[in-house]
Amino acid sequence: MSVTELFEVTDKVDQTDLQLGADGRLRHLLTMHGLDRRQITALLDEAELYLSDIGQPVIRTDALRGRTVANLFFEPSTRTRASFDLAARRLGADVLNLDVNTSSRKKGESILDTIYTLQAMQVDVFVVRDAQAGVPAYIARHANDHVSILNAGESDVAHPTQALLDLLTIRLHKGDFENTTVAIVGDIAHSRVARSTSEALVTMGIKELRLISPKSLAPEDGTVPLQARVLHNLNEGVRGADVVMALRIQRERIGNIDGVPGIDEYFANYGVSHERMKLAAPGAIVMHPGPMNRGIEIESSLADGPNSVIPEQVKNGVAVRMAVLSTVMKSRATT
Ligand code: CP
Repeated sequence: MSVTELFEVTDKVDQTDLQLGADGRLRHLLTMHGLDRRQITALLDEAELYLSDIGQPVIRTDALRGRTVANLFFEPSTRTRASFDLAARRLGADVLNLDVNTSSRKKGESILDTIYTLQAMQVDVFVVRDAQAGVPAYIARHANDHVSILNAGESDVAHPTQALLDLLTIRLHKGDFENTTVAIVGDIAHSRVARSTSEALVTMGIKELRLISPKSLAPEDGTVPLQARVLHNLNEGVRGADVVMALRIQRERIGNIDGVPGIDEYFANYGVSHERMKLAAPGAIVMHPGPMNRGIEIESSLADGPNSVIPEQVKNGVAVRMAVLSTVMKSRATT
C-alpha cells in the first residue's frame, strides 16, 4: 500500500530560518536560499580539502566517528545517494541506506514515524530525497533538536548539494564567478538543479547567467533569480559562454507533454553539441548534473570529450557532501 501524506510547504524565508541555528551556523541544508557568499565559500573551501587525484587514495577523517547517517531516498538516485554514502563513510560515520521499497512506509507508516523510529536508533543525520515539495523542511521542523536534515533533491524545488558541487567544479576551472558567464540549457521549468544552482551562482556574483529552454519548458515567474536572462534561442544562449550546462527533460514531473518537442526536434534546437560549442568562449566547459539522455539534450561524444567536466562533477559531489556533513556536525557541537 502506498500512502499519500500531506506536508505543510514551508516558504523560502522560513526554510532559511530553519536551516540556520541561532548563531547563524548551518544546522540543516534545505535550500541555497539565504546562504551568503561567506557561507558558500566556506563549504567550497572545505570540500577542496577532501579532493585527491583519481587513482590516489581518498581522503579520510574521523570527524563523524560514532555518528550515524541515514539515506532516505523516496525517489531514484545513483549519484547523490552513492556520494552521500561514500562521504559519510570517509568521515568515519555508520551509514544506513533504508530500502524504501521494503520499509514499513509501504504498510502505511508515516514519514515522521519512520524518522522517529530511526532517531531512536541514534541516527544523527537524515539525507532525504522526495518527489513532494516541503518534505525536508517538514522533517526538520519535527525532528529532534540534535538531528540534522540534508535535502538530497526535493521535487522541482531544490537540490542544494548539486548546486554546491556545480559551483565547486566551476570555481576549479574558471577561478572566480565575477568573470564567468554560465548558460544552463534544457527543461528549466521542472529542474531543481536549475533553481538551486542559479540561486547559488547569483549569490556568488556570477557575471552573467542565461537560462535557455523551449517556451514550453521555461521557468515560471519567481522560480529563478531575477538576475537570470531567460532565452529561447540556444545559439544566442551559448555565444561567448564560459560554462554550458545541459539538463535532462524531467518527464516524470511533466503532467501534460503537449508542447514538449519530440526527440529529434529537441536535439536540433536545444541539444548541446560540438557544433553549438563552437559559439562558446574558448576553453568553455560542458557540464551535466546527470542522469544524461545522450543524443537528446547532449551529443554523446561531447559528454565524453575533453571539454566535458561531467565526471569531475561526480567526483566533486563526494567532497562537497563530506563538507556539508562535517559542517552540520560542527554546528551541532556548539548548540
Ligand atoms: N544529479 C543527481 O541528482 O543525480 P542522481 O539522480 O543520480 O542522484
